[in-house]
Amino acid sequence: MKTSQTKLLVTKCLLFSLLLSATFFLLFSLQTTAGPPPSAGADLRIRPGYSSYEAYIQKQLNKTLNPKLRKVWTTRDWDRKIQVFANFFDGLKQKQLLFNDSKALCIGARVGQEVEALRRVGVSDSVGIDLVPYPPLVLKGDFHHQPFDNETFDFEFSNVFDHALYPNHFVGEIERTLKPSGVCVLHVALSRRGDKYSANDLYSVTPLKALFSRSELVHVRTVDGFGLDTEVVFRKRI
Ligand SMILES: *[C@@H]1O[C@H](CO)[C@@H](O)[C@H](O)[C@H]1NC(C)=O
Ligand SMILES: *[C@@H]1O[C@H](CO)[C@@H](O)[C@H](O)[C@H]1NC(C)=O
Ligand SMILES: *[C@@H]1O[C@H](CO)[C@@H](O)[C@H](O)[C@H]1NC(C)=O
Repeated sequence: MKTSQTKLLVTKCLLFSLLLSATFFLLFSLQTTAGPPPSAGADLRIRPGYSSYEAYIQKQLNKTLNPKLRKVWTTRDWDRKIQVFANFFDGLKQKQLLFNDSKALCIGARVGQEVEALRRVGVSDSVGIDLVPYPPLVLKGDFHHQPFDNETFDFEFSNVFDHALYPNHFVGEIERTLKPSGVCVLHVALSRRGDKYSANDLYSVTPLKALFSRSELVHVRTVDGFGLDTEVVFRKRI
C-alpha cells in the first residue's frame, strides 16, 4: 500500500517535471526563433504587381509624360527647385565632392532642373537621363541600362532610387559609369513612402551600403529634399 502510493507520487513528480521542462524548452525555442534578425533584405522591398519590365516602363512613362506634371515642372516648380538644387550642389562643392570641372550625370532627371542647377553653379559638363528626353538638358536613357561607357563620370546624382525595379542594376550601372574615385549622391526617403509610381520601399541605408559594393560610404545626413529626407554619398574605390 505504502510503496504503491510512493510509486504514484514519483510518477506524478516525474510527469510534472517532464511537462515543466518541455514547457521551458518550447518557450526558449519560440523566443530564439521569433522574428528574423534585421537584414538588408528586410529594409529594401520591391513592390509587387509588375507583370513585366514593359509594364513597369509603361507605368513610369505615364508619370513622366503626364502633360499637367510636365507643365508644373517647367513653370511653377522651375525656379524654386533650381534654387534648392543649386544650394545642395554648392554644399557638395564646399565638401570637395563636386568641382566645376566634374563631368556630372543626373539620373531620372525629368525636365532637368538639377542639370540646370549644376550648370548654374559652374559644373558646365553636366547632363541628365530619363526615359523621355528633354533637350538639351536631359538625354533619353534607362537607369537600369545607362547609355554610357564605363568610367565616364566624376559625379552622379539621383533622387529617383525608389523608382528602380532592379536596385542592383540601378547601383551597378552607377558604379560602372563612374570613374575610379567618382562620387555618387543619392537623395532617398527613409521615413516616408513614395508615390504609386515607386517600385521599391527603402527603410534604412543598410541595403544601399550592400548594393554599393565597389564604393565606400562617405556620409549620410538628413536633408529636406522635396519629400526626400536622407542624403547618402558614396565614393567608388580606385
Ligand atoms: C497609362 O495611361 C494610359 C492613358 O492615360 C492608360 O490607358 C494606361 O492604362 C496607363 N498605363 C499604365 C501602365 O498605367
Ligand atoms: C566655378 O564656377 C563658378 C560659376 O561659374 C565660379 O563663380 C567659380 O569661381 C568657379 N570656381 C572655380 C574654383 O573655378
Ligand atoms: C565595363 O564594366 C563592366 C562591369 O563594371 C565589365 O563587366 C565590362 O567588361 C566593362 N566593359 C568594358 C568595355 O571594359
